[in-house]
Parts: sequence; structure tokens; C-alpha cells
Amino acid sequence: MRGKFITFEGGEGAGKSTQIKLLEAELKKRGIEVVLTREPGGTRLSEKVRLLLKDELEDPPCDRSELLLFLAARAQLVKNVIKPALERGAWVLSDRFSDSTFAYQGYGRGLDLKILRLANDFACDGLKSDLTLLMEISSEESLKRMRSRESATGTVADRIENAGDDFHSRLRFGFKDLAAQEPGRIKTIDASGTIEEVQEKIWKRVQLLI
Ligand code: TMP
Repeated sequence: MRGKFITFEGGEGAGKSTQIKLLEAELKKRGIEVVLTREPGGTRLSEKVRLLLKDELEDPPCDRSELLLFLAARAQLVKNVIKPALERGAWVLSDRFSDSTFAYQGYGRGLDLKILRLANDFACDGLKSDLTLLMEISSEESLKRMRSRESATGTVADRIENAGDDFHSRLRFGFKDLAAQEPGRIKTIDASGTIEEVQEKIWKRVQLLI
């Protein structure tokens, strides 16, 4: 039987990486094979593209080039990792996927959503998630969590995280709009509670797929 494909989405600092690992452990306890991946990334080529996309370059990619780099990374991940895993019955959990492209490059950068959908469909060879968990926190909380992550890990915000307040409010709106358009596939999770509370909410949704 084909495995399930679950993606985690949301703005920065929503706790996606923590929750995705907790879900992986929960599924493994039940004897399910789980493949955990992230976007952009998850293959050697895609991880190299990730560096190009996140770094502050002297010659940063223009909006179209940024889009195509995300899609190139995705095409490689879908073909080499996600589809083979689903076909052998594993469940795939991805930290971000297509909805990030629609929110960031579509609503955020202002590229035409119709073109994005077509190009993305081509890159994914038609693959869509079975369930997308949209982790939602307020913009104040998001900023607070990013700042504390930066001081805890000594990292600084990357090129996209630094894209400015207007960009970030457009993409917040974008994620909400996408969820309203596809209520069956995209489920919003209030991510403002404790790690355990959020984990519980996620599990309620995922259980329905088992
Ligand atoms: P993250 O893994 O730390 O969330 O970094 C990925 C960054 O790339 C994040 O700022 C969101 C952004 N992004 C896009 O702009 N478009 C995409 O299609 C994807 C997958 C991510």
C-alpha cells in the first residue's frame, strides 16, 4: 500500500522542526517506516541549492530565478526520495513543500500563482500532500521565537527571513488564503501552546490517516 505524504508549513519560528521529529517518533512507535525530509534540501543536489537560496549573496537570485531554484531542488527530491518512499509504503514527512512556494514566491514575491501552480506541478510530477499541517502563530510570537533561536544557536536570519515586514505579512495572509481554498488537505494548527499541546493537536489530525 502506498504510504502517506504529510507536509508541515508556516512562517518562521512556528515549531515545525520540533513537531515533525515528534511525529516521526510517534509513527515509528507504531511500526510505520518514516522518511523525514526538508525543503529546500533532502538530496545532495537540493542541499547545495538550499545554500544558494539562503545565503546573502553579492548577486542574489531575482524572483524568477529564486522560484526555479526552489523547483529544481523539489524535482530532485520528489524523483529520488519522496516518490520511491511512498511507493514502498513508507510515510514521508516534509518540513515545507509546495505551499511554501505558493506563499513565499506567490503571495510574498508577487509571482503569478497560476504559473506557479503549473510549474510546481511539473516539478513534482503531479505529487500533492495527503495532509498539510499549517502551523500558525502570531507575528509577534514568530519574531520572539526567531530572536531567541538566533541567540541560542548564534545563527543570524537568512536572506529570506530578512525579507521585511510587508513580505512576511503577505505570506501570512497567503498561507491563510491557501488553507481556505483547500480545507480538505490543509489543516491549520494553533501552534501558540506548549510543545505537548501542539503535538496532541497534530496527532488528532494524523490519526485519521492511519
Ligand atoms: P527553513 O527550512 O529554515 O524554513 O528555510 C527555508 C526558507 O526558504 C524559508 O524562509 C522559506 C523559504 N522557502 C521559499 O521561499 N519557497 C519554498 O518553496 C520553500 C520550500 C521555502
